This record gives sequence, C-alpha cells and structure tokens, in this order.
Amino acid sequence: MGTDSFNFMYEENMENLQDLQNKILTDISSAANLKKLEEIRVSVLGKKGLITEKMKTLGSLSMEDKIALGKELNLLKTTIENTLNERKQFLENQELNHRLANETIDVTLPIRPETQGRIHPISKIYEEIVAIFGEMGFEVAEGPDIEDQFHNFNALNMPADHPARQMQDTFYINNPNSPNVDDSFVIRTHTSPVQIRTMEKKHPPIRIIAPGRTYRSDYDATHTPMFHQVEGLVIDKTTTMAHLKGCLYDFVRAFFEIDNIKVRYRPSYFPFTEPSAEMDIGCRKSKDELKIGEGEDWLEILGCGMVHPKVLAAGGIDPNEYQGFAFGMGFDRLAMLKYGIPDLRTFFESDIRWLKYYGFVPLDESSMTGGLSNNGGLAR
Ligand code: DAH
Repeated sequence: MGTDSFNFMYEENMENLQDLQNKILTDISSAANLKKLEEIRVSVLGKKGLITEKMKTLGSLSMEDKIALGKELNLLKTTIENTLNERKQFLENQELNHRLANETIDVTLPIRPETQGRIHPISKIYEEIVAIFGEMGFEVAEGPDIEDQFHNFNALNMPADHPARQMQDTFYINNPNSPNVDDSFVIRTHTSPVQIRTMEKKHPPIRIIAPGRTYRSDYDATHTPMFHQVEGLVIDKTTTMAHLKGCLYDFVRAFFEIDNIKVRYRPSYFPFTEPSAEMDIGCRKSKDELKIGEGEDWLEILGCGMVHPKVLAAGGIDPNEYQGFAFGMGFDRLAMLKYGIPDLRTFFESDIRWLKYYGFVPLDESSMTGGLSNNGGLAR
C-alpha cells in the first residue's frame, strides 16, 4: 500500500466512522518508522487531511447533525492523536535503542589501526623537562634562533674582545644593512640570550625555562652543528645559591627518576654568572656501560651560577634590588644517556627506521603525576 493511497482508501470508508477509525488505528500501529507515521498524520489530521476536510463540511449540516457529527469527529480526532503520540513515542524509543546498540564501543579494545608515528627522543626529553619545571612553577619562554650579537654575547657580559667568544664556534650571518662584522647576526650559540629577552619583557619575580635549538660549528659522535639546550632563570629579591642547588637537585632526581642520586657542584667560570658552578651527577663508568646515580665517577651535566650584576643591568633590572640564578644544560646528551642512544648524529638523520626503534608511542604523555618517561611506553 503506497502512502498516497491513504486518503483514497479512507475516503471509501468515510460513511462508517467506526470502520474508518479502526482502519486508521491499525495503520498507525503498524507504521514501521517515524516517516511513515508522519505521512499518516498529515493525510488524516493535516491541513488537507481527511478529518480536517470532514470538519469543514459540518457548516452545511443541520444544527442537530452538526452537534452529533461534530462530537463524533472530535472524539475520533482525539483518539487518533493519542494513538499517534503513543506510536511516535514507541518508534522514537526504538530508534534510540537501535542507535545506542549500534554505537556501543568497547573501550578496552586496542586502537585500530595502531598509531604509526613515534615521538622523537628529543621531543620526549623536551616534554619531560617542561613537565618537571612546570610542576615547580616555571614558565616556558622562547627567543629567536637568529640572534643579534647584543643578546647572544654583549648583554651576557661577553663584549667583542672577550676571550669567551672564541670558546663558541659561532655561525655568523651577514647583516644586509651593515657591512660591519659587529652588526652581523648569529644563529644563537646558546639559549642564554633568552635570559636577556625575558628580562627586557618581564618584571621580577621571574621564573622561566627556555628550551630550544642552538648552533655551533662542531661535528662528531657527541656534537652536531644544531643541538638543544634548556636555559633557566630565576630572579627575585632574595633568591640565593641555596635555591639554585635545591632546584637543580630536585630536577635531576625527577629527570633520572632516582631519588637518592649523587650530585656535586664544582666551581667554574661563565662570563654571565658570578659565582659560577658546574653540576655533576654520580655515575659508574665501566667498559661498555654507564650507570647513573651511583659509583665513584662524575658526569658533568650543566653550568649554573648567580646572575652577574652586569647581566641584570643589561636586561634593564636593577642589580641593587634584585638577584637570581641561571643555569644552562645541553639535553641531547641527556637523551643519549637516559635512553641509551650511542651516536648523537643519528638523532638528526631523519631515518624512519631509527625513529621506529628509539621513538616513543605518542599516547604516553610525560607528566609528574602520570609517570615521566613511561619506560613501558618505549616503542621497542
Ligand atoms: N650558556 C652556557 C653554554 O652554552 C651554559 C650556561 C652556563 C648557561 C651557566 C647558564 C649558566 O645560564 O648560568 O655553555
């Protein structure tokens, strides 16, 4: 039976309202879906529907007939409406149950297709460093890779004739606006210029880390021309060397995931800190293994110190009012150490087989609460 035939078919039975009602109610209760049901509703109760049309004819009847038929028609209409609503409710529920059953997902099933991409060990270490210092209340600051010499050297207490400049094998970039070598740009040799850029922008208290790319002309198993450092800077009125020691000790404990890791601070020299120190962690070096955290050997991991008053002044901060500490650490070597990767150069060769082997599953995020390195999440 096509939907268009409703009117026609009901028309034939019009004389007997009881028959008509039975027919319509049967149609309603056998309507298989909401669309069908709506078609029935329109053909019976719609503007041009059967009952509506019948109501219109009441005007031409005698008063008595009008009252009698009007009553019957109203009753019929109400009965049909009620039945329609009931059926509608039923079909809606059925549809919903059907959808819920279809959309059920078993959250315990493994991901399909399994994720193919891997997180590069450097990105992993980066996330770990940010997670640890983030927990201590540090913000992440950034600076440009192409720096001017003021931010990379001069402001860090390394004027043009300073011998420390020769310590770093700097890549220079011509300044198109000036033939003067002092005006040439550099690709930053360390993340320390972000100290200056932060001081220029922010008033103390300052508590930032600046992880990022750095560049020096160097190439062997533990050096690549592009490598990564993280800078730290804390400035306030009463920040001391004790804060520096506590902060970095907590960092290495969290980073190497060894609670009682041995550390020591050795006096050192950097132009931008006074006093300056280097931090070593205890380790044991045997022929083909390096064990971190115990043993009689030491491994240098970072440089640090109290920010030199000249550096504070260059950043626009009054050294008579403020003081603070800074540290700088190369973290490619830490990635090699922590994840047992023997040659730094392989990090940047973009070999997908290498990444599959040494990379990390992307769903394992590093956090202090959820586990830092998720060693179980190692792809291999
Ligand atoms: N910028 C130094 C380097 O690249 C590392 C460093 C040492 C940074 C001591 C510091 C610091 O902030 O206090 O070798």
